Amino acid sequence: MTAVSTPERSPSGSPVDFRNVLGHFPTGVVLITGIADDGSPVGMIVGSFTSVSLDPPLVAFLPTLASQTFKKLRTAGSFCVNVLAADQEDLCRRFAGRAEDKFADVNWSPSPSGAPVLDGSVAFIDCTFDSINDAGDHHIVIGAVQVLEVLRPVAPLLFFQGGYGRFAPMSISAAFDADLIAGVRLAERGRVEFEHLADSLGAECTAMAVISDQMAVTVAAFGASASAARIGERIPLMPPMGELCLAWEDTAAIERWLARAVPSDECTPEQYRGRLATVRDRGWSITMRGSYRDEEVYEALREYSSGCYTPAQERRIREIISRTSSSYAPVSLEPGQSYDVDSVLAPVRDAAGKVRLVLRLSGLPGPASAESIRAWARQLMQTAHSAESLLGTGAK
Ligand SMILES: Cc1cc2nc3c(=O)[nH]c(=O)nc-3n(C[C@H](O)[C@H](O)[C@H](O)COP(=O)(O)O)c2cc1C
Repeated sequence: MTAVSTPERSPSGSPVDFRNVLGHFPTGVVLITGIADDGSPVGMIVGSFTSVSLDPPLVAFLPTLASQTFKKLRTAGSFCVNVLAADQEDLCRRFAGRAEDKFADVNWSPSPSGAPVLDGSVAFIDCTFDSINDAGDHHIVIGAVQVLEVLRPVAPLLFFQGGYGRFAPMSISAAFDADLIAGVRLAERGRVEFEHLADSLGAECTAMAVISDQMAVTVAAFGASASAARIGERIPLMPPMGELCLAWEDTAAIERWLARAVPSDECTPEQYRGRLATVRDRGWSITMRGSYRDEEVYEALREYSSGCYTPAQERRIREIISRTSSSYAPVSLEPGQSYDVDSVLAPVRDAAGKVRLVLRLSGLPGPASAESIRAWARQLMQTAHSAESLLGTGAK
């Protein structure tokens, strides 16, 4: 093993170094509450909370020996851990400060043991004191868990280098802003062409920016019937969604996309590869109005678009979206047949062949003949190509 050598390295660790280095490690934030022996509610913000044992169920936190709040808290018969939510930063600051009555105007209800559970907390863990030992200038308090419950499964509050924040999935935080702004600029430069297409067909034309290989976000809507509410809508690039964004990608990217399919998906990876090949051959794609247009799917997509979800909620959203796979099955357009088309989509690709924008025509008259659909697709493809050349990025 090689030792890490950096200018910040310190063998002994002065208090400043100690705080600096340990500050590089993030923590969650909990409020430990109790009713002191004089009957008053007590609350202390703690980042040193951790689970200790499953059997028996034990948790721990480390109050400093100097804490006046803990001196009161330990006179309580029990304590309750409130897991704070990302939107409870103000409460956290109030309890971490030195206000006289920290509970004034704070709504709470008693836990089973009587300790305060603040409204809006993510979860509570009600404990009796199991043991209090000292380690250096802190106590190690072990709590025996009596009752615990998730009250509000939202993103928790996080603390890092003196600042507060919230959890964001790696995929979203990394490239989001840059890709989004690039997409907005592309859509703006193609505005005249996109508006012309929407108006000439009496339809709505939206432009979706591709964000890393994770999602497509609607960044512009054109046409008389265009709805501004569409802007900001997000579509996760996971099977069955996002075929058009993936069709020209390399094997590794396609495998990553396939790996995002949920286990209960009825389509096999082979079927999805087949769908990508169809899209690649056509150069465009269509979706049909289908049974997937139920409220549950809309609600899942709305929740996804809000960007406010925990990993557990994201797994549920993905499970619901996976039920739409039949609506994305490739349709071979037979002459003389008519189809209930939901949208026709075409890619705008950059010089490297990467899909940067997806143009989507919707609000088309229906049911439509195979011939009309092909005609719409040709016009959409022409618009996409001229957007590529307008941008000086003709696809290879
Ligand atoms: C994010 C955060 C985490 C904290 N974690 C701890 C902790 O683990 N242990 C502790 O004793 N104090 C911790 N504190 C400080 C206490 O919340 C509180 O400010 C301190 O106990 C106030 O001193 P007092 O108890 O003497 O009034 C933390 C403060 C913040 C803002």
